[in-house]
Amino acid sequence: MIHKAVIPAAGLGTRFLPVTKSMPKEMLPIIDKPVIHYVVEEAVKSGIDDIIIITGRGKRAIEDYFDTAPELEMRLKNQHNTDALSRLQEISEFPTIHYVRQKEPHGLGDAILKSENHIGNEPFAVLLGDDIISNATPCTAQMASVFSRFRSSVISVEHVPREKISSYGIIQGNAIEPDLMRVENIVEKPAPENAPSDIGAVGRYIFVPEIFDCLKKTRPGVGNEIQLTDAIQILLKDHPVYACKFSGRRYDTGDKLGYIKTIIDYALDDPQIQKELRHYLDQRLTR
Ligand code: G1P
Repeated sequence: MIHKAVIPAAGLGTRFLPVTKSMPKEMLPIIDKPVIHYVVEEAVKSGIDDIIIITGRGKRAIEDYFDTAPELEMRLKNQHNTDALSRLQEISEFPTIHYVRQKEPHGLGDAILKSENHIGNEPFAVLLGDDIISNATPCTAQMASVFSRFRSSVISVEHVPREKISSYGIIQGNAIEPDLMRVENIVEKPAPENAPSDIGAVGRYIFVPEIFDCLKKTRPGVGNEIQLTDAIQILLKDHPVYACKFSGRRYDTGDKLGYIKTIIDYALDDPQIQKELRHYLDQRLTR
């Protein structure tokens, strides 16, 4: 069973400047909840009861969001606004979240290394704060079942279009079951002509604790940052790593178009607004 999860949320959010100048990209709203709410919710629904978020400068809004708000709750109670109150209480029911700050932005691998003291010597999940994966059985729970069968690290993957290959960690592996591969090689953000496949790592991983030693051995790679992918490449030499094609729909909210698609899909699923939105979109697109 996987109990602990790391959510790296220290990235600068350059693609969303200027809004990310004064707000963390993980707090961009999908209608009325920030992206990171869905990521924490996935972890909790997958049985995780100990969450550590890696933050950095300018990320305090994340801590405030997951904190309780007794004055606001009291006010809503007095106003008998049970609807808003229950939406707030949903957050209070999440397990306690721990925070560590990454002082300098040295990359995803370095951010994960900051969680070592908290994680200790046990397997753990990593959920990137930009990706929402929607499915009845959460992606992390799907990966946890793979972990319990093989007691080895697991990466969730999907096919990516050729023009997006250079945005992903790309894996090469041997299929052992229809949706499961044993990873042989992983390369961070290759040019499409040098990529070993079109299978990209999405933002969900389960690691054995040996990944921390690999992260310590990892030298700066793409973008002069400590890349998680390079540490996985080191891990592979002595420890099996599996890649799992998850069931579900992935939204890359770190990309402008991906972000808009996420909002539209969530709005079209929202019974309070779906009808009028559909009508508006129909009108707008036939204009
Ligand atoms: C990171 C990882 C990359 C992975 C991607 C998934 O890249 O470095 O290997 O494929 O997340 O979203 P980033 O999107 O932070 O540039």
